[in-house]
This record gives sequence, structure tokens and C-alpha cells, in this order.
Amino acid sequence: MTDTVFTNKGKFFDRWAPNYDWLFTTVFYQAVHKRLLDYVELPSEPNVLDLGCGTGRLLHRLATQFPTLKGTGLDLSVQMLHQARQRNSYRTRLIFKQGNAESMPFAEGQFDAVFNTISFLHYPHPQQVFLEVSRVLRPGGRFHLADYTVREEKGTRVFPFTPNSIRFYSPQQREQFGAAAGLECLGHYYLLGPVMLSVFEAVG
Ligand SMILES: C[S@@+](CC[C@H](N)C(=O)[O-])C[C@H]1O[C@@H](n2cnc3c(N)ncnc32)[C@H](O)[C@@H]1O
Repeated sequence: MTDTVFTNKGKFFDRWAPNYDWLFTTVFYQAVHKRLLDYVELPSEPNVLDLGCGTGRLLHRLATQFPTLKGTGLDLSVQMLHQARQRNSYRTRLIFKQGNAESMPFAEGQFDAVFNTISFLHYPHPQQVFLEVSRVLRPGGRFHLADYTVREEKGTRVFPFTPNSIRFYSPQQREQFGAAAGLECLGHYYLLGPVMLSVFEAVG
């Protein structure tokens, strides 16, 4: 059942991939990436992960802003990754891998920061993704989650759209996911319209 959900999600994004960077939605997402950078602090020579990286635009922006940064993009969709690899201008610093946010092919404590933009809404088991992020972050490493949000009293809203629906979470719900995974919430910041950034730090 779950495998089918991920296969269908992957196929959905495979179809979107060739035109992804030219659609209006992506113009919006790229504005989100730009604003996100204002909240990013990284150590020297950082090793970062972009979870649900799509065509790799956010990693490119990060690699430009931080010239010693090394980055890995992980995504379900083969075609999104194909686009990301074709447009990779930082081949010695950025790599792209296929995989699932719920069971990442990475060692513990490997990353200084994890980024996740407009992808969390697609995850059927969000708590499991938080646990995985916590596992791959070094102590003190940060998780930057930017996605659509809802007001606190709603907790979670589910929309029957795309394979297996999409889900928006309140700031409070995000904090609960973090607390259960050993990630302390440092703050929430509206980036653009209903897209909110939540920053977490891995507790030693
Ligand atoms: C709307 S796109 C966002 C892409 C990119 N982060 C951006 O900001 O433009 C959502 C991405 O999440 C990926 N995705 C969805 N579920 C995933 C999962 N379980 N594991 C890894 N990637 C996933 C999709 O394949 C797609 O590339």
C-alpha cells in the first residue's frame, strides 16, 4: 500500500519535471527559496541535505551563497533528479540521489543542515520523516522546514489532491513532530503568503 503511494507520487512528479522550472508555481517556490536564505546560518565547509530537492534550485542558491558548501539532493522522482543533474553547475560540490524521505540512504549525524521546501506536505508519515532528519543531523545541526501552514487550532488540514492527498500543518503540530524526534523548534517565520519556515535544532 505505502509502496504504491510512493510510486504514484514519484510518477506524478516525473510528469511535472520537464516543465517544473518554468511554471508559475515554481516562480513562487523560487521566491520562497530566496527568502529562506535570510534565515540560514551555516558553519564553515558545511555539508547539507535538501530533502525533496526537485530540480535542485535551492541547492544551487545555497552553493552560490556559501562557496565551500557541499550538498546532496534527495528526491523520489527520477525525472526531477534528471533535471537537477543536467543543470548542475557545481558538479564537484552538489550531488543528487534517489530515495525516500522516510528511509534515507545516509549515515547518522552526517549533515550540518537539512532543508525541505514544499515537499513535507506530500509525506504520508510525517513523524517518521522528522525521526530520519534527526538521525542524519549532527548534534546542533539545523532543520529548515518551509511549507504551507494552517492556523494552530486546525492542527492539520488534509486536501484530497495528488496521489495520497497533501497535508498542511500548524506551527504547533510541527513543534510536536520536532519534540518527539529530538529537534527543538527555534522559531517560525512567514516567508511568502501561507508558506512558513520552521527552524529546528538537533538536541545533542
Ligand atoms: C513541489 S516539489 C518541491 C521541490 C523543491 N523542494 C522546490 O522547492 O522547488 C515536491 C518534491 O518532493 C518530492 N517528494 C515527495 N515525496 C517525497 C518523499 N517521500 N521522499 C523524497 N522526495 C519526495 C517530489 O518528488 C518533488 O520533487
